[in-house]
Amino acid sequence: MRIVIFGAEGQLGRDLQTALGRHAVTPLSHADADIVDEAAVRDAVTRVAPDWVVNAASMTHVDRCESDAISAFKANAVGAGNVARACASAHAGLVHVSTDYVFDGRKMAPYLETDPTRPLNVYGVSKLAGEYLACNAHDETYIVRTSGLYGAHPCRGKGGKNFVETMLHLAGERSSLRVVDDEVLTPTFTEDLAAQLTRLVESGAPWGIYHTTNAGECSWYEFATEIFRLAGIHVTLEKTTAASWNAPARRPAYSVLENAALVDNGIDVLPDWKDALRRYMAGRGSSQPRG
Ligand SMILES: NC(=O)c1ccc[n+]([C@@H]2O[C@H](COP(=O)([O-])OP(=O)(O)OC[C@H]3O[C@@H](n4cnc5c(N)ncnc54)[C@H](OP(=O)(O)O)[C@@H]3O)[C@@H](O)[C@H]2O)c1
Repeated sequence: MRIVIFGAEGQLGRDLQTALGRHAVTPLSHADADIVDEAAVRDAVTRVAPDWVVNAASMTHVDRCESDAISAFKANAVGAGNVARACASAHAGLVHVSTDYVFDGRKMAPYLETDPTRPLNVYGVSKLAGEYLACNAHDETYIVRTSGLYGAHPCRGKGGKNFVETMLHLAGERSSLRVVDDEVLTPTFTEDLAAQLTRLVESGAPWGIYHTTNAGECSWYEFATEIFRLAGIHVTLEKTTAASWNAPARRPAYSVLENAALVDNGIDVLPDWKDALRRYMAGRGSSQPRG
């Protein structure tokens, strides 16, 4: 199959290039095609005449979205609509990547694809608008919501770091760290997510929303604890609250995604987040760059 990837130089985009490697992949970076530019997107898609388009392009810095809503809506909403319209014209299936932050966290139990959305921050609102614009423009769309990404390649929108590397870096500078314990999520390894997205496009599963994360759940504090255990690093970890951290954007206290649609369609769910983290940590120190 011919597959175009937007956001191909991002953390997930790089792993998608590998996972989809048995297909004819056209990776497009931000410099190759700005998804906010409707004509550029249409031209790029028309040129390839793909069977599939994966949109992993996004403004991903949650706090920056809060202070620059216009840029967030351009990339995350208008851009998503542009990609979907180009897919509709080219008769290509679309995989559009979205987020757990479309939910408000009040459920305090894993969110189903059918649960009502209510984002707490501009990033989440812009991503939810992107879901609507994509589905509105093109019926043949998979919306893939995921959570807490980390992977071998830098998260470009977050200054090149992921949470694991940030923790390990800070542990090299300080003997004690405070980590938020009242936000619960499922950290997800981009290598696993890319493999699952590949399974999805090859599955023939019905169009719609697919929650796609590693299994299990933890707070950021528990995530950090496991990172240091696996790294064999002794650092004093203290629990803190999101309120005392006081980030510009509010985040849901609980944003675990039940991968129900994947299960319903007989597509394997991903392994537990601890298993994924162990594989990520084992790969550190190889020649691959780490976020
Ligand atoms: N990171 C997370 O924890 C997380 C959690 C849940 C969901 N997600 C979703 O997962 C997807 C992949 O995120 P990621 O972690 O791979 O982030 P990333 O490393 O920041 O990658 C995003 C990519 O999008 C590109 N991009 C930004 N604006 C663009 C535009 N207007 N036109 C074309 N390309 C543009 C960026 O290029 P430049 O850097 O060159 O601008 C970057 O390569 C996104 O949809 C994100 O919302 C991420």
